[in-house]
Amino acid sequence: MIHLASPLAQYRAHDADIAAAIARVLNGGVYILGDEVENFERAFAAYCGVGHAAGVGNGTDALVLAIKALGIGAGDEVITVSHTALATGAAILAADAVPVLVDIDPVYYTIDPALIEASITPRTRAIIAVHIYGQAADMDAIGAIAKRHRLPLIEDCAQAAGGRYGQMRTGAIGDVACFSFYPTKNLGAIGDGGMVVSNDQALIARVKQLRQYGWDASRQTREIGLNSRLDPLQAAILGAKLPHLDADNARRGAIAARYSGAFADLALTVPAIRAGTQHVFHLYVVALDDRDGLMAHLAARKIGAAVHYPVPVHGHGGYSERVVLPEGGLPVTACLVNRIVSLPMYPELTDDEVAQVIAAVRGFFGKAA
Ligand SMILES: Cc1ncc(COP(=O)(O)O)c(C=O)c1O
Repeated sequence: MIHLASPLAQYRAHDADIAAAIARVLNGGVYILGDEVENFERAFAAYCGVGHAAGVGNGTDALVLAIKALGIGAGDEVITVSHTALATGAAILAADAVPVLVDIDPVYYTIDPALIEASITPRTRAIIAVHIYGQAADMDAIGAIAKRHRLPLIEDCAQAAGGRYGQMRTGAIGDVACFSFYPTKNLGAIGDGGMVVSNDQALIARVKQLRQYGWDASRQTREIGLNSRLDPLQAAILGAKLPHLDADNARRGAIAARYSGAFADLALTVPAIRAGTQHVFHLYVVALDDRDGLMAHLAARKIGAAVHYPVPVHGHGGYSERVVLPEGGLPVTACLVNRIVSLPMYPELTDDEVAQVIAAVRGFFGKAA
């Protein structure tokens, strides 16, 4: 079996470092927050090139807490895409705000800046740009719109740890950025984890209050928060893995380049890479007419494949009534969800496994490897 992603292979690649990190936490006797979390917050902020970071329970909570820390709540509108993990929409709703969904551009699959302004209303309070699959959204264009309308720009970096947009890391471009350390993510924990990063010290201080009920230093609360702290065990493990993130992303990029080269003559759209950016290929997603046929062909050859995402946010039960869609709907999103499929992508994939995936995909089109 060739898996789509393999947190187990990643664990095995770093098992001694992970064991040492866990033993350090266990013997340190501090099992909530403390130095391990602070050290990783500092290391991750420095890696992203931002001033401050707050470790939280997961990537969804990172978004909820960032939205709340910006003072966004009941009745406020937040603009984002429907072509994303459900978590992006779930977080907006969990913060009591209304997701206002905009279509994606048909080449990069990130929010289409040309469509944003039509969805801005007097109730709009923020824009969330999702760096889908590991590729930065068009942050220059989105940033200009955010600035013009005085709206904070949130980066959903769950899939883009270590990516670059020009000289900047993803996470350092907007006003605040949210990361997930879900095990399959480019920087994955052995469980859940998340982070909010920003150059705005006061905003991160607010996230740190809100991640513990809204407590101030004397454990008094003026507003309702969550209990959502990054676990010190996960912080220590992530700290051990962070030095390998660039190499892992380079390997993902090399596998993607090999796939795209090998698929160049097939009736299939390979990922487009935005000029001047580093796509970190959390997922390698192709688009084709007979997506289901290719998936069945791969399954018969024990090659993992999946659709990210078969149902847009607004198609989920409980969401359709609570989101705002533009007149005319989201035609690019609606078309894409029936055409996309994600192929195996993780740094520990061997060259031989990559060759097997290529042979299987080419075989589906009746072409020799
Ligand atoms: C784009 C996006 N946003 C947010 C999240 C939420 O992260 P988590 O699963 O850590 O809550 C994820 C991952 O699932 C994601 O892919």
